[in-house]
Amino acid sequence: MTADLIYVLGLETSCDETAAAIVEMPVADGAPCGAGRIVANQLLSQIDMHAPYGGVVPELAARAHLSHLDRLVAAAFDEADMALADMHAIAATAGPGLIGGVLIGLTTGKALALAAQKPFIGINHLEGHALSARLTEAVDFPYLLLLVSGGHCQLLAVTALGEYTLLGQTRDDAVGEAYDKAAKLMSLGYPGGPEIERRAHHGDRAAYPLPRPLLNEDTNKADAPHCDFSFSGLKTALRQATQKAAPLDDKKVADLAASFEAAVADCLSTQTRRAMTRFRTMVTPGTDYNLVVAGGVAANQYLRAALGEAAAAEGFAMHVPPAALCTDNAAMIARAGAERFAAGFIDAAPMAIEARARWPLSG
Ligand code: KG4
Ligand code: ZN
Repeated sequence: MTADLIYVLGLETSCDETAAAIVEMPVADGAPCGAGRIVANQLLSQIDMHAPYGGVVPELAARAHLSHLDRLVAAAFDEADMALADMHAIAATAGPGLIGGVLIGLTTGKALALAAQKPFIGINHLEGHALSARLTEAVDFPYLLLLVSGGHCQLLAVTALGEYTLLGQTRDDAVGEAYDKAAKLMSLGYPGGPEIERRAHHGDRAAYPLPRPLLNEDTNKADAPHCDFSFSGLKTALRQATQKAAPLDDKKVADLAASFEAAVADCLSTQTRRAMTRFRTMVTPGTDYNLVVAGGVAANQYLRAALGEAAAAEGFAMHVPPAALCTDNAAMIARAGAERFAAGFIDAAPMAIEARARWPLSG
């Protein structure tokens, strides 16, 4: 069996990262064989521009994507020492995300594909995260996916390319959003995740008793035990604890951050273990059990350790992409495009693919 190498350019503009990347993927019989290589990975973060507003301002984000994307695409070709003509396909995020930004990446991708007469593939940003672990490791289907980002918090069974079954999701805030709001409550910077993690490192995880929402729901209910999450009650409890503890000092902030993080870790690991029980009933006995954790929040070392313990207790191997591939990037979009191209999953009318603000991965 000989492998062909395919090259795909991917573009990502759905939130506050402008990115262009090229991946190489070895393919045999229509399926990837091995992780392949990221041959170019260009990324411009807009964090500094949005930080004074405490969150992403959609109009500013769209304008910045427009100003920088062309330059990043050119830089990606330079980095790879390749040209548009060397690509097998062009992929771009088509949603979900901030619609102005999505439109810019999608239109740029279509224009490049049209000019070079290459296939164009519109990618669901969440599928990019879902497949991101396959950029650096040969993780085979099926696997259980915990997707934790600023906009999403869900557990999915990934049984094949394009086959995602939702096992649980947040009923209110996404976990990254909860981190960002928690940071705001304590007057820490934006984005909140990395700052809370840094402060929590020196804190006492048991200093403030914060709730673990949904974990102790009545287990006699018809749909129990479910694998859903809820973080808004935790945020309210943190607000009350923060107000009570005022005036804050470094020690109190560290303890509040550590207590918040401990509650999040319990919620994530308990529901992931419940999803593992369900996952086992969905796959052929004898299958290796794998857990993939993806999305920006997967960069968090404390949460990784808690999830690693949960995985070990359930006999699952855990896979987490390197931090730079957990947060938004274009390599994961290029990889999803390469997998779809190899499988022949190409839209019959790619120029008609529309930008979508909402686009669930399952169903
Ligand atoms: O996946 P991502 O880059 O963008 C979305 O698609 O949402 O995730 C961004 C989110 C933000 O909410 C950020 O606060 C969170 O991921 N995040 C973290 C960490 N690094 C980023 N949350 C917790 N701990 C971290 N180290
Ligand atoms: Zn994302």
